[in-house]
Amino acid sequence: MSEMIRVEHLAYTYPGVDDTPGVAVFEDMNLSVEAGTFVAILGSNGCGKSTLAKHFNSILLPSGGKVWVCGIDTADEDRLMQVRRNVGMVFQNPDNQIVANVVEEDVAFGPENLGIASPEIRRRVDQALKQVGMSHFALHAPHLLSGGQKQRIAIAGVIAMQPKCIVLDEPTAMLDPRGRREVVETVSRLNKEKGITVVLITHHMDEAARADRVVVLHKGKVAADGTPKEVFTQVELLHSIGLAAPETTELCWELNKHGFNLSLNALSEEECAQAIFQEVAK
Ligand SMILES: Nc1ncnc2c1ncn2[C@@H]1O[C@H](COP(=O)(O)OP(=O)(O)O)[C@@H](O)[C@H]1O
Ligand SMILES: [Mg+2]
Repeated sequence: MSEMIRVEHLAYTYPGVDDTPGVAVFEDMNLSVEAGTFVAILGSNGCGKSTLAKHFNSILLPSGGKVWVCGIDTADEDRLMQVRRNVGMVFQNPDNQIVANVVEEDVAFGPENLGIASPEIRRRVDQALKQVGMSHFALHAPHLLSGGQKQRIAIAGVIAMQPKCIVLDEPTAMLDPRGRREVVETVSRLNKEKGITVVLITHHMDEAARADRVVVLHKGKVAADGTPKEVFTQVELLHSIGLAAPETTELCWELNKHGFNLSLNALSEEECAQAIFQEVAK
């Protein structure tokens, strides 16, 4: 498998204003994301998730170390457009990402800026809207859509630029449960069916549980890294850095404190119910 993103000895300090010292977020951060994978990034508030994400498409450049995207050094000014074309970003607030008064014009905005010919833009916009399940909203006004629908339009705008990778920084933080489900199902499908690499920053454990790999950040380093089951069974570690495991794992973990002997591997509600049922039936 090829490498989509490589973070090597990354250091980053936000510059201080006047005489105040800067904020050192990373001193020696290392991470590699394989092409085609769906990776969730977790971590408590202020641990540096957004700072890291902004390094993935040259919004921020390292103070030290290197970040590579598809083998391109993100600090290479001559290849900035290539980096931006490879990695599309989706942010938390859907309203800040809407630029047009009609959905299809909004989705066309990115490819237009890339200087792509009109017939090709038409084709890409139609395809992108189809891929996020929003084709029948093509001529609607974006501001009248639900939060989840707006985020799917934002995702369509990104995939119309045909990136190899999409980085989503807490895209569901402002959405209701239905909107959250719509967005996570959309990115999961883009990953499985189109092979687009997905990096999803979230504080919802149930969303992270759908990824192939979960990376937990703490104090500028990777504190845990593995499949959702490998990471979420480390309940004490998660608690020690201010995070919770998914509700199913937390339930089994609590029951174990009261004499049950449940595997913490039961991530889905169904697996969890099955495990408890079997223990009770003994
Ligand atoms: N523009 C900025 N200037 C100075 N400090 C910042 C800036 N943005 C973020 N920080 C600080 O950097 C640290 C990491 O922030 P951030 O990457 O936003 O964390 P997260 O996304 O994990 O909540 C925090 O201590 C935050 O206060
Ligand atoms: Mg953030």
